[in-house]
Amino acid sequence: MDIYSYHHFIFMRLLFPLIACLLLCLLPLSLSYNQLPLCHQEERVALMQFKDSFIIKNYPLYGYYPKVASWRIDGNNTNCCAWDGVECNQDTGHVIALNLSMSCLFGSITSNSSLFRLLHLQNLTLSYNDFNHSQIPSEIGNLSSLTHLDLVYSYFSGQIPSEIQYLSKLSYLWLSSSFDGYNDLYTKLSLTSLLQNLTNLQVLGFLDINISSTVPESLANLSSLQSLYLVNCGLYGQFPTRIFHLPHLQELYVSAKEDLTGTIPNSFSNLTQLTYLDLSQNSFNDFSWLTRASSNDILPQFEYLGLAHLKYLTKFPDILRNQSKLEELHLEGSNLQGLIPKWMHNRLF
Ligand SMILES: *[C@@H]1O[C@H](CO)[C@@H](O)[C@H](O)[C@H]1NC(C)=O
Ligand SMILES: *[C@@H]1O[C@H](CO)[C@@H](O)[C@H](O)[C@H]1NC(C)=O
Ligand SMILES: *[C@@H]1O[C@H](CO)[C@@H](O)[C@H](O)[C@H]1NC(C)=O
Ligand SMILES: *[C@@H]1O[C@H](CO)[C@@H](O)[C@H](O)[C@H]1NC(C)=O
Ligand SMILES: *[C@@H]1O[C@H](CO)[C@@H](O)[C@H](O)[C@H]1NC(C)=O
Ligand SMILES: *[C@@H]1O[C@H](CO)[C@@H](O)[C@H](O)[C@H]1NC(C)=O
Ligand SMILES: *[C@@H]1O[C@H](CO)[C@@H](O)[C@H](O)[C@H]1NC(C)=O
Ligand SMILES: *[C@@H]1O[C@H](CO)[C@@H](O)[C@H](O)[C@H]1NC(C)=O
Ligand SMILES: *[C@@H]1O[C@H](CO)[C@@H](O)[C@H](O)[C@H]1NC(C)=O
Ligand SMILES: *[C@@H]1O[C@H](CO)[C@@H](O)[C@H](O)[C@H]1NC(C)=O
Repeated sequence: MDIYSYHHFIFMRLLFPLIACLLLCLLPLSLSYNQLPLCHQEERVALMQFKDSFIIKNYPLYGYYPKVASWRIDGNNTNCCAWDGVECNQDTGHVIALNLSMSCLFGSITSNSSLFRLLHLQNLTLSYNDFNHSQIPSEIGNLSSLTHLDLVYSYFSGQIPSEIQYLSKLSYLWLSSSFDGYNDLYTKLSLTSLLQNLTNLQVLGFLDINISSTVPESLANLSSLQSLYLVNCGLYGQFPTRIFHLPHLQELYVSAKEDLTGTIPNSFSNLTQLTYLDLSQNSFNDFSWLTRASSNDILPQFEYLGLAHLKYLTKFPDILRNQSKLEELHLEGSNLQGLIPKWMHNRLF
């Protein structure tokens, strides 16, 4: 046997089976890595108590179903990491996400709710339930790992707890009043105070909330902001121009019953990612950026442009010449004068 064959022999007869065996033995290990982590007993108990604090109110509406109906402690169902709407950390097994959107929950969330024992929660989505006009408990501020908080259309009322400001890791915050839009939710705290610590916000949505104040200049310091919705919040005064220059801004809705004034900047240089813009029902008074666009400007390519009920918009927006991605345009209720320009005809019909 020459030296080459010898090595070949060693590899084929001895090493190869060994390597093959190792691979086969490791395979189940890598499979088990994808298995669900085991849930902690105290978190399972907390989830069950949370479930039991509500009545299930079924809605015959698309998408609604009681996710918690499958939460049971019996037989092989005890791993709460497998429950509908629950997500656990792969390594620690702690509950890190709870998504009970559209889950037919009816009842209030009290300050002693077991929800506030789920201290590892990062994502909390309780939108589209009926919390019976109860207040958002101030204990929400104890869930200090939260990065994502969505309480849209969930029938909370009253004062937004100032403890929201402790949630300094939030990157997503969406709050709204109920469907009936009566400004049930309000804040006595200024937006400046409420948001001063929330410097990582990427998405901020306030809908039908009685804020009744000016828009603070400090909003323009939220440099990660991608989407800003301030809709029907009773805002007034000068809208900070610097917000238009936020480098990552993609969606900006400041509309409906606001009474904001101000100038929209002439330079488009930092607005290239902006695709949704709604300024309807405001008192902005300088639209030169819309009506006098020069071919040297790098224009944002809008998909949605809401310019309805703007009493000082009187000239047809020239910017529309070059908007090939536009899917929705609102110009109703404006004081546009003159005929629709010829170049617009084939875009409209
Ligand atoms: C929450 O669950 C709903 C379905 O019930 C789903 O549509 C939504 O995308 C989920 N949200 C998050 C943040 O995972
Ligand atoms: C809802 O709120 C009303 C008025 O506060 C109260 O009488 C009722 O018991 C509450 N219902 C539930 C299920 O919490
Ligand atoms: C919260 O406290 C009330 C009394 O204030 C009590 O009836 C209720 O059972 C408590 N709920 C929990 C989850 O401990
Ligand atoms: C939390 O929400 C964010 C944003 O929607 C998402 O990217 C992330 O995957 C979610 N995390 C968990 C644990 O569900
Ligand atoms: C919430 O945090 C406050 C201090 O910030 C503490 O006094 C309170 O006991 C905590 N509540 C719960 C339910 O952990
Ligand atoms: C802001 O966040 C820091 C760090 O999370 C915290 O120590 C501080 O108390 C917070 N301040 C306010 C006013 O929320
Ligand atoms: C909003 O709150 C203010 C006082 O903070 C109040 O005067 C006003 O009536 C409220 N507006 C609505 C629409 O509820
Ligand atoms: C915005 O941030 C700058 C720099 O960090 C700071 O000097 C300024 O005071 C902040 N403005 C507001 C209104 O918070
Ligand atoms: C555009 O962004 C750059 C860098 O973030 C900044 O220096 C510049 O002032 C911005 N331009 C305008 C018009 O705000
Ligand atoms: C229209 O938009 C395209 C693509 O963004 C750009 O290349 C072109 O220069 C624009 N034309 C005018 C007149 O602004």
